Amino acid sequence: MLTTDINKAKEALLINELIAIPTETVYGLAGNAYDETALKKIFELKKRPFYNPLIVHLKSVSCIYDVATDIPENALKLAEKFWPGPITLVLKKQAHISDLITAGKDTVAVRVPNHPVALALLEKLEFPLAAPSANPFGSISPTTAAHVFNYFGDNLKVILDGGECINGLESTIVGFENNQVILYRHGSISVEEIEKIVGKLSIITNNDKTPNSPGMLSRHYAPMTDTYLTDTISELIKSFKGRKIGLLLFKNLSKDDTIMHQEVLSQSGDFAEAAKNLYAAMHRLDHSKLDVILAERLPNIGLGKTINDKLERATKK
Ligand code: TXA
Ligand code: MG
Repeated sequence: MLTTDINKAKEALLINELIAIPTETVYGLAGNAYDETALKKIFELKKRPFYNPLIVHLKSVSCIYDVATDIPENALKLAEKFWPGPITLVLKKQAHISDLITAGKDTVAVRVPNHPVALALLEKLEFPLAAPSANPFGSISPTTAAHVFNYFGDNLKVILDGGECINGLESTIVGFENNQVILYRHGSISVEEIEKIVGKLSIITNNDKTPNSPGMLSRHYAPMTDTYLTDTISELIKSFKGRKIGLLLFKNLSKDDTIMHQEVLSQSGDFAEAAKNLYAAMHRLDHSKLDVILAERLPNIGLGKTINDKLERATKK
């Protein structure tokens, strides 16, 4: 059920039920990070494999020591700079953190979300929240409470409605290995912004066999409809003549009047606006009974790189 009542959310969490919470990135499927029953429910409801670890959401930077230890200087710099905000840090875990959260690894992923509703809720709790994105494993992430309801319906008693997510893309995930800062997942904060604080990042590219971060799995965030990514949309349209085509475009509408449905991410070509609109546009396209979705690649800089990365994963078969 959709609600704005934080107390209802708290009550559900105290009896180890799951709830959906708004964050600035995407909605999360949240449970008490210190309770194994709640953690198991997250995997069940999301149909998420146990090898895919969860992010722990904290109420403030100082809570980092409750869950992590041996925190590198660069991690503290990033936390100070970007929290509350959309960067997730992979750190050495405290012994008490459940293997369900970490998938048996000795690291834990943490962040402080930058959403007034999520922060007000965390402030009322004596435990952090483990929360993956509130979508079934592999599908498009939710950026509105209605997206969450469409996925889970009444299986979620409390969906805290905090409006549309302002960033609209997942957090950027970084880890720290051998004095290097490593990018595990492209996200809401661009590589360039992070490099201003900690210098050059090492970027881990796809590795389906031992993904460090399954956000890096080659197929993820995928619509049900067949989706293709291209630099030259008008060329690709020709090869699908006669089919029901939907377009996911960066700035400009297509003039082709055989197209059934078009989504433009940002008429002014603004990456942040495009990021905010991306998943909602993908949800709408996926519900438009199309034969095929053709998506246009963005310029590969800043958040354009993150959007392209998500589109690549939405289209690879
Ligand atoms: O923006 C976000 O990060 C959203 C909101 C709800 O906070 N959450 C989110 O969670 O995107 P999820 O579960 O969809 O993605 C979490 C990612 C996964 O790719 C997972 O593999 C990675 O975080 N992760 C978690 N723990 C990790 C660890 N110890 N080492 C490496 N990657 C980890
Ligand atoms: Mg996810």
